[in-house]
Amino acid sequence: MKGIVTLPPKGGVWLKELAETPKGEVKLRTLKTGICGTDKEIVAGKLAFARPEFAQELVIGHEALATVEDPGENTGFREGDLVVPMVRRGGQCKMCRLGRQDYCEDGDFVEAGIRGKDGFMREEFQDSPKYLVKVDDRDIMDLAVLTEPLKNVMKMLEIFNFQNSKLPLYCDDSTLNCKNLYVFGTGTEGLLISSAFRRTGVNVIAVNRHPLDETVLSFLEVNGIEYLDTSKESLEQKAGKNRMDYAIDAVGSMDVLREITKNIGNNGQIILFGTSGQKEATSEEFITPLVDKNVMLSGSTDGAKKHYEQAIQFIENYGRKYGLGKLITGLYRPEDLKIFNTKEEGEIKKVIDWT
Ligand code: BGC
Ligand code: ZN
Repeated sequence: MKGIVTLPPKGGVWLKELAETPKGEVKLRTLKTGICGTDKEIVAGKLAFARPEFAQELVIGHEALATVEDPGENTGFREGDLVVPMVRRGGQCKMCRLGRQDYCEDGDFVEAGIRGKDGFMREEFQDSPKYLVKVDDRDIMDLAVLTEPLKNVMKMLEIFNFQNSKLPLYCDDSTLNCKNLYVFGTGTEGLLISSAFRRTGVNVIAVNRHPLDETVLSFLEVNGIEYLDTSKESLEQKAGKNRMDYAIDAVGSMDVLREITKNIGNNGQIILFGTSGQKEATSEEFITPLVDKNVMLSGSTDGAKKHYEQAIQFIENYGRKYGLGKLITGLYRPEDLKIFNTKEEGEIKKVIDWT
């Protein structure tokens, strides 16, 4: 069985014959795996927390769609079922035992293809039914590989709804139509955030520092999302006209955070998702304005099983109508290892086809 491995924390990427499939209750055949920034960082040796499950090599890949080859006994699955395997698997803390390993309290978890557990970029694998989420609707087979990145967005929606329930911050007509959400970053995750949050009724402004290509522009258009290119109009000017009520960052750079902090409105809400290894900012430019403006700030990572289910539901309801397929900009073979180190013209999401 072939698989794609890396050597964390140094990185590198190889396609090789794997010795065996570690045993699990359900036997699965991989159909598709997506590549994201996390994978590219691991391969480039830039993700310090990447670590193998066994010896030295880590099978990479955490965004997958697979089919059940052997369901095992009483697992609730049938041969041929489509499933999305979960990334994070919990330890012993209370949150993990409650199925909320995305809120793990002591860091005692593993993440498939990232830290401490082999991932899904291999022809087959075995897993526990507990970590498999079923995709009932075969019509979304081509889009279901987006479930994993989208589950992160469903978790952000949970945080957003929770924060909003605290204060009567809705518009006069009880909707979110008069509110503006600025989403920083126009990669897969940024675009999924923009699309999903737009469905709540909030006005979404996607932000980046450069002109966008046709694919992204048409995606934004079908989704009813505005674009702000900060090389043409500053965030300050824009926020002066369209108040920044909410901001979600999918970039993770200090410069973006500084800009958000400066421009967010009173009672604003910020969700931080993007990460990077940059140095700290001073308290005066970062912390003081957040406190002074009563800003609600949340970090958000990963998601729980229900968020995978919500992501699948979202793809079923809206995937076609709002062009989620446009986000998959290339299908590749497992042999095409250079895709981990390159960025194609107009690239959003690269997907490896294992069939
Ligand atoms: C995954 C998350 C994971 C995070 C950090 C992301 O790419 O979608 O599930 O928690 O990486 O490892
Ligand atoms: Zn990812």
